Amino acid sequence: MRRRLARALALPLTLVAAGAAIPQATAAPVAADSIVVGGFPVDVSQSPYTVALSSRDRFGGTRAGQFCGGVAVGRTTVLTAAHCMDKEVLGTAPERLRDLRVIAGRTELLSDRGQEVAVRAIWVNPTYDGVTNSGDFAVLSLADPLPATSVIGMAGAGDPAYRSDTAATVYGWGDTTGSGSYAGSLHGARVRVQPDALCEQAYPGGSHGTYRAETMLCAGEVAGGRDACQGDSGGPLVAEGRLIGLVSWGAGCGWAGSPGVYTRISDVLRTLGWSAASPS
Ligand code: ARG
Repeated sequence: MRRRLARALALPLTLVAAGAAIPQATAAPVAADSIVVGGFPVDVSQSPYTVALSSRDRFGGTRAGQFCGGVAVGRTTVLTAAHCMDKEVLGTAPERLRDLRVIAGRTELLSDRGQEVAVRAIWVNPTYDGVTNSGDFAVLSLADPLPATSVIGMAGAGDPAYRSDTAATVYGWGDTTGSGSYAGSLHGARVRVQPDALCEQAYPGGSHGTYRAETMLCAGEVAGGRDACQGDSGGPLVAEGRLIGLVSWGAGCGWAGSPGVYTRISDVLRTLGWSAASPS
């Protein structure tokens, strides 16, 4: 099954070893009203392309097995972060995780709204670098199609949505405090696209990663407070109605001077040889 997707994408199939693990302890929690850190509750109908990745076998059922976010960019195509597929996170190679599912159309993880769809094939970007975190994306191919209304368009290179100061929103079921309070329902946080220079300065190279403007996107608030956090990885950063980033990494959550770092979608498109028009 994985072979088929690899051939379709005309790219070699490699699974990456190592990298950033998911729920990592972070120091200095930021006071925030809720989510994603500094966010607000969202009904999934407002961001129907936001999906949860789940494995109850690996993560238990208390949060429906949610461990990362994802984005529907085609009816059977979901983008997520490469590091979400790390063996360290999943405890095994992703294709061996029998109950890996995508949960779509569900706001409250423990409700039965929406659908749970099996993953038919997994393709992890072979150029993902677990040291810098560059190229942090993977493509999941679904066994059954999502509604066409769940699909979001991707912003291609040169799209004005990538400009600094553009208002953007990040969505997820991740930690709302930076100290391990995982959300049971979907949240969003409003952030702004920041100049590459801000992240280059914040992340010149260190234990968290190294900012690379070609493959990453910098977003947050200069004063901190609003940000994505652990458990949001792989989820969408949206501006002007188009997908511009995937939650990837950062130092802490919502800290002043430590913006969120996202996988740059124009680089995903370039790597996959996709145009900005959605795949099926
Ligand atoms: N690596 C985290 C995850 O696996 C996402 C961290 C995002 N952090 C941030 N400060 N924006 O869920």
